[in-house]
Amino acid sequence: MKVLGIETSCDETGVAIYDDEQGLLGHELYSQVELHAVYGGVVPELASRDHVRKTIPLIDSLLRRLDLPRSSLDAVAYTAGPGLVGALMVGAMLGRSLAWGLGISAIAVHHMEGHLLAPMLEDDRPAFPFLALLVSGGHTMLVRVDAVGAYKVLGESLDDAVGEAFDKTAKMLGLPYPGGPELARLALRGRPGRYELPRPMVDRPGLDFSFSGLKTYALNTWIASPGSEQEKADIARAFEEAVVDTLSIKARRALQETGLERLVVAGGVGANARLRERLASLDAAVYYPRPAFCTDNGAMIAYAGMQRLKAGDRVGLAVAVRPRWSLEALSE
Ligand code: KG4
Ligand code: ZN
Repeated sequence: MKVLGIETSCDETGVAIYDDEQGLLGHELYSQVELHAVYGGVVPELASRDHVRKTIPLIDSLLRRLDLPRSSLDAVAYTAGPGLVGALMVGAMLGRSLAWGLGISAIAVHHMEGHLLAPMLEDDRPAFPFLALLVSGGHTMLVRVDAVGAYKVLGESLDDAVGEAFDKTAKMLGLPYPGGPELARLALRGRPGRYELPRPMVDRPGLDFSFSGLKTYALNTWIASPGSEQEKADIARAFEEAVVDTLSIKARRALQETGLERLVVAGGVGANARLRERLASLDAAVYYPRPAFCTDNGAMIAYAGMQRLKAGDRVGLAVAVRPRWSLEALSE
């Protein structure tokens, strides 16, 4: 069986085909980063329009490259949420229509389920149950995963997502969009210990996060500093240290509280080298998707779609997207 996966929830158009016997057959990605860079952030309407332009050519190019006819597909899975409503609508409309035209099943995939199952695309894949640390531009979550579809959210961000905090702090420091990787690059030149930023909410019990105050703290530190390039790198370093420390403290706490022995890290911030280094010191086997599948991609949607297809989970002809969609709703 072959499932075509379509991802259009934000600023990346991703498509992929997953085969339940042969695994991932191929994937293609078109990033809109350059389109949004001049505005310093994602412009939703431009994102939707670009998905309209790119999705079908990307699917055709993937099928051509794999030498597969459209008729070889058994289902089309698309990201139905959470995400930008217009962007989601593009993938959902195309995906649902394509499935209808081909007379095959359509599957609505939860974007975060895609992220947390992404390590399953690798040879070294975690067994259930595991703890997932989801760190993206839209979400920060610790999730207990007992099986596909059995998710318990143990903690999440009460305000900014961690990727969002990276991006906003980077913007304040005058770095180009998308700021997360830029800030991480700058932090490499920062002097350790030159500045100390707080580790939000670590003194309180529980597994929730809060990153918006940290961003403001970084801004105030920058304003009060002499403002040199070196100071900027020092603050980037201190910010990254504070975030990485906070995430690893909470992940350790969650492992202790649940007794779980495996940790999956997924989402764009999972690409952060300092975070990876720190999590390696935890008392758990840590699993990551390959870097290309840490950030948004079609492969994770094709994979999650295949799991949903096998569970008999398909959608009717109505096209519905859910810009806000709790992960736990999938367990109900
Ligand atoms: O998962 P993702 O591609 O998109 C969402 O679903 O949000 O995550 C994108 C986020 C952005 O905020 C980006 O700045 C951040 O991941 N990011 C990083 C790094 N690479 C990507 N943040 C810190 N360090 C990195 N190396
Ligand atoms: Zn994502």
